[in-house]
Amino acid sequence: MCSQSLKPCLALELLLLFHLVLPTSTQGHSENRLTAISGTNVSLQISNLPAKYKQLTWFYTTSQKILEWESNQTILFNSKFKGRVSLGQSHDLCIHNVQKEDSNTYILRVLMESGTEKEWHIPLEVYDPVPKPEIEIQKTQEVNNRCHLQLSCRIPDRLMNYTWYRDSGPFSTGLQNSVLEIVVEPNNYSTFYTCQVSNPVGSKNDTVYFTSPCKLGRSSAVAWTVTWLIIMVPIVPGPLWT
Ligand SMILES: *[C@@H]1O[C@H](CO)[C@@H](O)[C@H](O)[C@H]1NC(C)=O
Ligand SMILES: *[C@@H]1O[C@H](CO)[C@@H](O)[C@H](O)[C@H]1NC(C)=O
Ligand SMILES: *[C@@H]1O[C@H](CO)[C@@H](O)[C@H](O)[C@H]1NC(C)=O
Ligand SMILES: *[C@@H]1O[C@H](CO)[C@@H](O)[C@H](O)[C@H]1NC(C)=O
Ligand SMILES: *[C@@H]1O[C@H](CO)[C@@H](O)[C@H](O)[C@H]1NC(C)=O
Repeated sequence: MCSQSLKPCLALELLLLFHLVLPTSTQGHSENRLTAISGTNVSLQISNLPAKYKQLTWFYTTSQKILEWESNQTILFNSKFKGRVSLGQSHDLCIHNVQKEDSNTYILRVLMESGTEKEWHIPLEVYDPVPKPEIEIQKTQEVNNRCHLQLSCRIPDRLMNYTWYRDSGPFSTGLQNSVLEIVVEPNNYSTFYTCQVSNPVGSKNDTVYFTSPCKLGRSSAVAWTVTWLIIMVPIVPGPLWT
């Protein structure tokens, strides 16, 4: 754990215990990925670390050391992590305020008393927390009882996955994009459209409601704000009479 007296890695750390990586002396490769939310503290840990060893080194790349432990002494190397990393109690690598740019396959190399080396590769992927999306109605065009609908799911970060839902379930994958463009008729319109944005660390959604193919019902999106403003006007003078 990251709770050394010198540089505590924090109580609320996200512990990324890496059980499944097997040590490989020649080349290390792993299919398993660890995910973390940017801004949090993470701890990269190996569960099957040998009990005794001479030297332990955490690498960013094979040629960039982050820190090294030997004979009870820890050396911090000049890397982009300086000031953000520490060695935890179980010799885990604590990264504070982890950033998307820290996504990387970290390397842990341990030199045994016997002189043999063991190596682990730990892939870490850092993602931003998912923002709340907002559906914007870009187009509702009614022609002969058919409605041409164009809904846009807005978020500040484009690097997310989008999933649109209607009352019969998710739309086909071909329609999964930030903009949903569909033609609906009275027999196949949905009473709502939900846009869900997600990445491997979370998901959030927004929904707009329809009372007929082209007629917006109660909605949390843009149209709701407009209704609110209209309702506000007669309510404002209210307290003056009391
Ligand atoms: C991360 O660690 C720092 C330094 O130990 C601490 O001040 C901060 O509160 C921690 N952040 C979280 C989200 O736990
Ligand atoms: C390392 O620290 C432990 C406990 O603090 C101590 O027992 C041991 O003798 C130390 N080893 C060296 C090489 O300094
Ligand atoms: C609704 O039905 C019409 C006519 O069959 C079709 O053109 C349209 O693509 C359908 N819309 C959806 C969202 O399935
Ligand atoms: C989007 O989904 C795909 C497939 O599930 C996944 O591999 C990818 O990491 C996701 N991308 C983001 C930004 O969440
Ligand atoms: C939308 O988010 C709410 C919580 O905010 C959740 O209960 C619901 O399952 C989500 N719906 C979809 C389709 O993701």
